[in-house]
Order: sequence, then structure tokens, then C-alpha cells
Amino acid sequence: MTKPISLVHGREYLAIPGPSVMPDAVLQAMHRPSPNIYDGELIEMMPALTSDLKRVARTDHNVAIYISNGHGAWEAALSNVIAPGERVLAPASGMFTHGWAEMAEGIGAKVDLIDFGMSAPWDMDRIAEALRADKDHEIRAVLAVHVDTSTSIRNDIPALRALLDDLNHPALLMADCIASLGCDQFEMDNWGVDVMVTACQKGLMTPAGVGFVFFNDKAQAKRAEMPRVSQYWDWQPRTNPDLFYQYFNGTAPTHHLYGLRAALDLIHAEGIEQVWSRHERLASAIWAACETWAEGGSLHLNVAERIHRSNAVTALRLKDGQGTRLRQFTESRLGLTLGIGLGMEDWDACFRLGHMGHVNGHMIMAMLGGVETAMAALNIPRGSGALEAAAAALAG
Ligand SMILES: Cc1ncc(COP(=O)(O)O)c(C=O)c1O
Repeated sequence: MTKPISLVHGREYLAIPGPSVMPDAVLQAMHRPSPNIYDGELIEMMPALTSDLKRVARTDHNVAIYISNGHGAWEAALSNVIAPGERVLAPASGMFTHGWAEMAEGIGAKVDLIDFGMSAPWDMDRIAEALRADKDHEIRAVLAVHVDTSTSIRNDIPALRALLDDLNHPALLMADCIASLGCDQFEMDNWGVDVMVTACQKGLMTPAGVGFVFFNDKAQAKRAEMPRVSQYWDWQPRTNPDLFYQYFNGTAPTHHLYGLRAALDLIHAEGIEQVWSRHERLASAIWAACETWAEGGSLHLNVAERIHRSNAVTALRLKDGQGTRLRQFTESRLGLTLGIGLGMEDWDACFRLGHMGHVNGHMIMAMLGGVETAMAALNIPRGSGALEAAAAALAG
């Protein structure tokens, strides 16, 4: 028998669903001394930075920036529009809605959670039922996770907007685009989203540590009625501030801003619609491979229908222990790190492919080649021709 030879020495590839691969331009932009935070370039770059962020979110409204991760953005958004004792509706198709709902409970909200499990998108009829039952319009907001990174389900935000409108329900539509922004199409204004939260470490290709809350006039009107909002989470001074420090309620995340500037330059040089198309095409190659492997009976895509799958992440299931073993093989033998089966009961049967942000055709083919190699090494039965199917999807 031949001795296994380590094949990890070379450029490592982190293919988890966030933090995502950082472009060299982002890393290089951050490699510099601290700037003056009272005068000069950093201050001058803010107006263009905020307007370029809004172009990614497809909104003409407001953005507040926080030194935080996605959890911080969740809490920031809730803190500005939900007072203790108010109700929110949370339709869940993955663990991140549960997380946001728990955070809402933490600030004193009453949460009506509808759980669609870990493989199904929203069922609009059940959401309609909950909204119809709310005759006095006590539900102040719907917490809508666009792409749930744990399940890789992409929910239909325009359909939810249409439902709220049809029922004449005034609840705010609050979207979590932490996984989807800059990967899956999202149109804040056209889709009638009132509040959107995101963070910088996925489609925005910047090191983790900055969160964003976008909000429109309707959300601002609700903010104005709030009995109190904590000074740090208050989005008001952060949006069009009189003084630079108010953008961040203190010292700016200096280097993150340089990195973000470089990332936004890349996104807008490519064009946001082209960024979506790239992710769509790359995802179609991944699914072509996965659907072929699935013919062998061992591998299952967590989301059955393509229409409900995100272009940013794909959740997969093998049998007990095999998801973990496959990841361990790709990481220790090939230098390829895949995502864990986050939030799944049988989590070590599962794994996820991250395909968000700075990824291109050859990276996706390499990732799929890594999975094929691991399946071969672990003798996992699989349909043949997966890489050919992926190549055909990219070649078309
Ligand atoms: C959809 C979604 N929401 C919220 C979060 C929480 O973000 P963070 O881990 O940055 O706090 C994540 C993180 O992966 C996410 O994918």
C-alpha cells in the first residue's frame, strides 16, 4: 500500500460560508499605519463609502455602520424599532432565525416563531395565517432571514412583501442579508424591505468585525416613536452625523474601512448584477456536481429544489460521521477547509460548501475536485461524472 502523502502545502482554501476568502486588494488596503481619526482621508472617504454600500443593498435610504459582527447588527436593528413588550413574527428555515428571535426576546420582545424545520423554505400560507390572526396589528415586525446559512435555504422576500401588502399589515419587513448580500440578488427598495441587516465577512469580502443596518423612512418613523434607544445602538447619529466620531459612536474601525473600500471597488468594478450572475453560475456548477454525486445514494442536498437554494452556500448530508470525516480529509490532506454541518441534529453527517464573495470558476472546480477526492478516499458511493457536469455548467 502506498503511504499517504500530505498535499496541503500550497495556498490554502477556506471554503466555509463565512468568513469568506479575502481578495488580495482588501488585505493590501489594510496593510498600513493607523490614520488620523480627526482629519483627512478617513473622514473624507465616508460619504462615498456609505453611498457605495447602499448601491450594493440597492437602496437610496439610510445605512448605519457598527463595529460588530452579525449578532451586533441584529441587536442594533431590533433596538431601534422594537420596544419591550412588542411582538415580532419570525418564520424560521434554519438556525439563524432562531438566533435572531432569541435576541428579540432578549430585548423584551414577544416572539411568534413559526418553525419550518431545517430543509424547507417559508410556507406563505402559514405566515398568512399568523398575520391574519393578528387583527389588532400587534406584530410590529417580521424577522425575515433571506438566506439561512445553516440550511442554505433562500427565502422569497418579495413574496413576503406581497403578503404583507395584500393583508394590509403594517409590520416592518426586516431582512437578514448577512449571508446573501453580494451573492444572491437582493433589492431593498424595489422589494419593499424596511430594515436590512448585514455584516462584512461574507459577500462583502472584508475581515469580520463590521455590521450594517439599512433602514427606510417607515422604519425611521417607528424609531421616532421609541420610548428610548440605547446610545450605542441608536442608528440616528450614525446616519449623516455632524461629527466623524458619531458614525461609530467612538473610534472608527479604521482598517476595516480601508478593506471595505477596496472590496466595494471590486464589487462595483465588476457590477453588482454581474456579481449575482457569477454566483448564480458558480452555484449551478456546484449543484450539477452534487446532483450527480447524489445519484450514488449517499449524498443528499439539504434543499431539494434549486429555486429555494442560495447561490452563496450549499448544505449537504452524508451518513453519520461522514460529513466530519470528509471535511477532515479535505483539510488535512488537501488544504481545503469546508463548512461544518451547523445547526443540524445529525451535524457530523453534514457539511457545507461556502461559495460566497471572492470566488471564481477555477476555485469552484478545485473545491469540487477536493470533495470528489475525499469521497474516493472514503469509499463513499457516488454517481460518476460530477466534475464533468460542473465543467459543463461553467462552460455553457
Ligand atoms: C444568516 C446569518 N445571520 C446571522 C449570522 C450571525 O452573524 P455573526 O456570526 O457575524 O454574528 C450569520 C453568521 O453566519 C448568518 O449567516
